[in-house]
Amino acid sequence: MSSLLKNASVRHGVIPAAGRGTRFLPMTKAIPKEMLPIVDRPAIELVVEEATQAGLDDLLLISAAQKQMIEDHFDAVPDLEAALREGEKWELLASIERYQDFARIHSVRQGHPRGLGHAVYQARHHVGDAPFAVLLPDDLMHPEDPVLEKMIAVREQIGGSVVALLEVTPQQATAYGSADVTTIPLASNGLDGIEGLNDGDVFRLNKIVEKPPIDEVLSEYASVGRYVLDPKVFEILETLPPGRGGEIQLTDSFQSLIETPEDLGGGVTGVVIRGRRFDTGDKLGYLQAVVEMGIEDPQLGGEFRALLKGLVKGLDL
Ligand code: G1P
Repeated sequence: MSSLLKNASVRHGVIPAAGRGTRFLPMTKAIPKEMLPIVDRPAIELVVEEATQAGLDDLLLISAAQKQMIEDHFDAVPDLEAALREGEKWELLASIERYQDFARIHSVRQGHPRGLGHAVYQARHHVGDAPFAVLLPDDLMHPEDPVLEKMIAVREQIGGSVVALLEVTPQQATAYGSADVTTIPLASNGLDGIEGLNDGDVFRLNKIVEKPPIDEVLSEYASVGRYVLDPKVFEILETLPPGRGGEIQLTDSFQSLIETPEDLGGGVTGVVIRGRRFDTGDKLGYLQAVVEMGIEDPQLGGEFRALLKGLVKGLDL
């Protein structure tokens, strides 16, 4: 049935946000890691905005106990709105009402933390038999590189599933899904009309393995954070055994998709991320995101840059 869906437009997004955030303890003891601020907005708001700009209009949060705060952020706060209105604080009012412009957010609980593949599987009833995007909120993409938009365009053109690829060192590859790839020439696949894509940006995946030991790394390309998946993946996840770390790995379902014939919804394509990407689930990556976004902040940027310059001088770097 999936082949009929080949050119169906991608409207659904799934955001797995059920993780405990252990890399960030004690900060994440009572506050979800997705709520950590990037200047003055929680990281997840930037991810939801990215999904909206990529054309998704329905988002499903895969949530867990103690994470209701994320949903509260995308809801009205009538008394705060009234107070800001009364005080004529229009900019602040607009900032808390911004969620109304984003794709609608629903949520479902994962219950038991059995891995990323298991988290995505929780979306099967909501998404149904339609292609959908997955956005890992730890991966923050700079708004200047709309990689998800390009990936959706690739899926709508050639079907199958699409993963975002990052160029990494062999050492870095051990922390990601490592992929064996072959270049796909854009023109012969009808991909040359997609804005922002150049030859050398799109690959066919031949094999993928989750967090391999360094001597089993497949190439300098790692699959990270953004995926556009054929609904065939739900069928695969249903019976997928646990993989690396004893968890049901989304990466293992990509290997099955690679082995599935295209007319049954198989095939996996990779699109290389050419812009900036931050791992906000990691302390250093988070600090980098805050500093870079702080420098670019329209209101704060000038002062922040001057402050950093002063600090760097004093640091004897
Ligand atoms: C997950 C995925 C992995 C991917 C990574 C970064 O791993 O399992 O394939 O490369 O995210 O997006 P995690 O970092 O959650 O362990």
